[in-house]
Amino acid sequence: MKEKLQSILEKAMAEIKGSQELDQLESSRVKYLGKKGELTVFLRGMGNISPRERPVMGKLVNEAKQEIEVLLKEQKEKVLALEKERMLREEEIDISIPGKRFARGRKHPLTKTLDEIKTIFMGLGFSVAEGPEVELAYYNFTALNIPEDHPARDIQDTFYINDDIVLRTHTSPDEPRVMEKTKPPIRVIIPGRVYRADDVDATHSPVFHQIEGLVVDEGITLGDLKGTFDLFVKKLYGEHMETKFRPSHFPFTEPSAEIDATCFVCNGKGCRVCKDTGWIELSGAGMVHPRVLERCGIDTARYSGFAFGMGLDRLTMLKYGIDDMRLMFENDIRFLSQF
Ligand code: PHE
Repeated sequence: MKEKLQSILEKAMAEIKGSQELDQLESSRVKYLGKKGELTVFLRGMGNISPRERPVMGKLVNEAKQEIEVLLKEQKEKVLALEKERMLREEEIDISIPGKRFARGRKHPLTKTLDEIKTIFMGLGFSVAEGPEVELAYYNFTALNIPEDHPARDIQDTFYINDDIVLRTHTSPDEPRVMEKTKPPIRVIIPGRVYRADDVDATHSPVFHQIEGLVVDEGITLGDLKGTFDLFVKKLYGEHMETKFRPSHFPFTEPSAEIDATCFVCNGKGCRVCKDTGWIELSGAGMVHPRVLERCGIDTARYSGFAFGMGLDRLTMLKYGIDDMRLMFENDIRFLSQF
């Protein structure tokens, strides 16, 4: 009997000491001390032994039981301690490793220039509007007094979605859009992406950016256009800049002009960039054609207006001395991180 008890005890001790999991310990407890456990069964089997031996064996069994209980408790604590240690180790943060640096982005040069331009015009009381890039041919052409047979309407130049819908070829369609919705006085700039069926080269891209300007009020003259644009150019490029008008033609302005500004490279002396003229072309402009105003329900006896449309890409290239338009659209980080 004693040997039997001893072997149960040894087996139990070895099993418990080898346990690394709480589950295992619990099943050992059930296996030895539970209702049908080996020690319990052993205790019941003591009915067969002599009454003399019984108290001795009973004591031994109780001691064995206690020993197992103590060991279970100790092992449980060990397992819990190990578990805690493991968790701490796994969740450890190695603060000796340098942190990951986040590459901080910055604004695209076009956005920077546009932000500056917006600030200048907002300082002059203009608001900023936007219009759709997929535009009705009506707004892109018809509302701007561009006749049906005008070459600008040709599929050679314009991307058509269908007969009536185009990718806008300029931001000018937003002039009638604004004028239909807003009563004068109007002072607005409208920046946005425009599309033309051009091949890509250093100075052309099928997608580029324009900024439209529109002012409609009582008594607006070409002098207001000249003054506004001159001030704008001086604010953007510096006080030394000068502007001049060259006669031109647009169906939606009358009279029309191209506005030139002092060449930023040679300061007007003449160089390769300005083709020795000392001037660079910045914008189309003019007094809004009365037919355009009337189509939008504006009383031309009372109101007049000026408009201009300039290329943001070109303005940005001039500002930063960028000589290839493709750089503006390639998203090359080596280029962009210079601004
Ligand atoms: N929309 C014209 C262009 O794209 C520019 C322009 C705008 C001219 C407003 C006059 C008035 O060339």
